[in-house]
Amino acid sequence: RTTAPTSIVVFGGTGDLAKRKLFPAFFNLFIDEWMPAHFQILALGRKPYTQEKFRRYVLENLREFSRNNNYTEKQWLNFSEKIIFVNFDITDENSFRNLHDKLTAFDVTCNRRANRLFYLSVAPSFIDKVSANLKKMGLASEIEKDRIIIEKPFGYDKASAVALNKLLNENFKEEQIYRIDHYLGKETVQNILAFRFANTFFEPLWSNRHIESVQITVAEQVGVEDRGGYYDHSGALRDMIQNHLLQILCMVAMDAPVEFESSLIRDKKAEILKAVRRIKPEDINHYTVRAQYTEGVINGKPKKAYKQEPGVDPDSKTETFVAMKFYIDNPRWQGVPFYMRTGKSMVQKKSSVIVNFKEVPNKTFVNSKDKLQPNQLTINIQPEMDIRLAFMAKKPGLDMTLKPAEMVFDYFECAPDSPEAYETLLIDALDGDSTLFMRSDQVEEAWDIIATIQEEWENGTYSPIYTYSAGSWGPQAADDLLSRQGHRWLSTTMEDLKQEK
Ligand code: BG6
Repeated sequence: RTTAPTSIVVFGGTGDLAKRKLFPAFFNLFIDEWMPAHFQILALGRKPYTQEKFRRYVLENLREFSRNNNYTEKQWLNFSEKIIFVNFDITDENSFRNLHDKLTAFDVTCNRRANRLFYLSVAPSFIDKVSANLKKMGLASEIEKDRIIIEKPFGYDKASAVALNKLLNENFKEEQIYRIDHYLGKETVQNILAFRFANTFFEPLWSNRHIESVQITVAEQVGVEDRGGYYDHSGALRDMIQNHLLQILCMVAMDAPVEFESSLIRDKKAEILKAVRRIKPEDINHYTVRAQYTEGVINGKPKKAYKQEPGVDPDSKTETFVAMKFYIDNPRWQGVPFYMRTGKSMVQKKSSVIVNFKEVPNKTFVNSKDKLQPNQLTINIQPEMDIRLAFMAKKPGLDMTLKPAEMVFDYFECAPDSPEAYETLLIDALDGDSTLFMRSDQVEEAWDIIATIQEEWENGTYSPIYTYSAGSWGPQAADDLLSRQGHRWLSTTMEDLKQEK
């Protein structure tokens, strides 16, 4: 935990991310005494706030978005004193001069040069200006512990990500750059590595010898809401697969690093991304399914079609759902399909990884009247947070009847109030631990993996865009993608499984 005085600078301080995630995360870290004793948060924005009005706005948002509403008036007052709103225009050098003065004034109060953490929560088109001015005005020093956090989207395709990396590397050292993927801060995602590498029981089974397939699902119930303008130029492939789902894939598939150390872990992840088989244009239709939601019903409420959402082109061809199949061409995973799916306006919010083991190879129970179900290991990421192992057991009784049973490890039971992803990531960035952030090569590889798909979907003729009703599990084509190989999307809990039957 860092004790060094720190200036935190949030570009986009009045934006949506700051409101929903960043201020609540800093506040919770403050209450839990993870923040350094001396820090300030400079919230930069163009809206005309007075200090008092801005602090009130932060408090209102905390009430709505903080996981923790159990704090005293005094705690809030102490925290609010650390927040300083700064009227800021990214395109104006005077704004950066003013920022310089604010940062040096804080250094004076600390009797030393404070560390600086710059959070760039701005549209990609502004990163250029911000990073060049930080460099030009000497605000982020390579010698001091100054760090830059970059929010997604990190580029639009491989070429733009390479250009962005080049630009950032011209202004900062790679060790200073923290590319955020908030999925990596989720407890349940981090625990994948602990589960795999701090135990002996699963790792020997963790390969094509015993695993039939892996399924990664990130389903959301929300639609595009008020983000139509951004989303319509992005789509699910860029918005979710390129980052969150491929990062989960890395955690599931990577080899063990020699030590739990940032560069070693990131090397192992980059190896997986390099080994993911690139899909040829003519195979895209066979490996991928894209779809868009039409109107439907979610939780009993009508949901309008994607094309009717504000900010969305009524003729839009942007996908709000993707299902696809990847192969990893290395000795461990050769031949094992990794299925992924993600979508908006789906029937449930559910993120999970399912490791589906091979069928029992012998015929011991071939005459059993109950069909043997292959072992299934489910890692529920959210909203349920648990790990479930489904196995066959003897049903208590006089005859040898089998039934599926499961063992469950539930996070809520041991930590009902665990930190949010952004809390973990912000504290790591303050500490200078980049393990859970993406290195430039990882980002570029991830874009490379989806490059042919992007191109084919934009210009090609092979892949139709399917539709699915809001409130469903996606189009039939997503089921067909698996059934062609004798597989199906699996349920993540016994309750679901029973309901399915
Ligand atoms: C963001 C995407 O990165 O992740 C959003 O841009 C998506 O479209 C969100 O809704 C999902 O995050 P979470 O933590 O709610 O699963």
